Amino acid sequence: MKVLVVGSGGREHALVWSLARTDAVELHAAPGNPGIAALASCHPARAEDPAAIVPLAAELGVDLVVVGPEAPLVVGLADALRRRGIAVFGPSAEAARIEGSKAFAKEVMAAAGVPTAGTLAVARPPCVVKADGLAAGKGVWVCRDEASLDAALRAAQALGQPFHVEELLEGPELSVFAIADAGEAVVLPASRDYKRIGDGDIGPNTGGMGSFSPVADAPPVDEIVETVHRPVLRELMRRGTPFTGCLYAGLMLTERGPRVIEFNCRFGDPETQSLLPRLEGSVLELLAAAAAGELSGVAPPACGGAAVTVVAASRDYPDRGESGTTIAGLDEAAATGALVFHAGTALQDGRVVTNGGRIIDVVGTGETVEAARTAAYAGLACVDFAGMRYRSDIGG
Ligand code: AMP
Ligand code: GLY
Repeated sequence: MKVLVVGSGGREHALVWSLARTDAVELHAAPGNPGIAALASCHPARAEDPAAIVPLAAELGVDLVVVGPEAPLVVGLADALRRRGIAVFGPSAEAARIEGSKAFAKEVMAAAGVPTAGTLAVARPPCVVKADGLAAGKGVWVCRDEASLDAALRAAQALGQPFHVEELLEGPELSVFAIADAGEAVVLPASRDYKRIGDGDIGPNTGGMGSFSPVADAPPVDEIVETVHRPVLRELMRRGTPFTGCLYAGLMLTERGPRVIEFNCRFGDPETQSLLPRLEGSVLELLAAAAAGELSGVAPPACGGAAVTVVAASRDYPDRGESGTTIAGLDEAAATGALVFHAGTALQDGRVVTNGGRIIDVVGTGETVEAARTAAYAGLACVDFAGMRYRSDIGG
């Protein structure tokens, strides 16, 4: 089987790594990264450009395209591939609005009866201000006082998008992914992401600085998929826009029970890096079954143990990324038994260098989260580049 993975981050490296655990699979990536290049043929096509990706997939004669990031889905890559008769794991542009428009997500949740933060007619602290469209993690402001609310309203207006104000929820967060094909859903184990840049959840939001799975304080995922994912999938079907792909529910575990704070239309990054190594085999069968509309009767994948992912980011992340700084110690990190996924790297004169904000993900595995955490930090201790920053409390 030939598979093309679209994207170039740590999530895509983890997907390629998991797909490569199947015998007789030929892997391609667009555009990929130097880590992915060890497992797949990388092709220089921009992920967000259907006019480049669709002819590439057709020319390669791939049996399946797996789309990693949200941006290509929101602009209709999956639709364009399906029109060419190419099987794809990822939702249509219409269904991807569940992530692309927060107003649409709220409307679907209300119609489906899914518990979420209530919308506030009047902005008064404590509350959360959210820009409507994709804003790469920068369109959400948590406001606990008048001053932060004033700043949030100014920033939201400056983005030039519609925005809404909602109830501020308190509690630990949880990410739960369901592999979906229209009405069917297979739920994966829960994981937890660390969104803030600094230890102890201090500082600005990022794409995610680390993750772990399993999560001891999580309710059973079978309950969450019944109350959250399946009602949303049914509502999307009822509207004539069925969802095929990974439906990601970002939840807050409040005293009144789990509440949805966001949906994403793709695998989480860096949660995927802690999930896929826990599966006993490759994720290929599951993704191919969803893309073919054959999920009915497919059991959740066997999984065990624990995994912890620590992200090594560049000096000024999340304000800006950087490029061209040599990264040392990747082979040494892998030699400890940790998995080393490339998140933002490039090759320059035969050296692996930084190329982005989140640079390298080190994943430790073990019987328990504690053991996995020790393994992850032992691996990370080998990695070094100028300005490298990471959180030291992942999985703790
Ligand atoms: P989102 O992009 O919607 O996931 O929001 C980014 C982050 O903002 C979340 O991971 C939460 O930490 C926080 N957040 C979003 N919505 C709420 C809410 N209603 N109450 C409290 N925190 C929230
Ligand atoms: N880790 C958060 C996200 O993937 O959106």
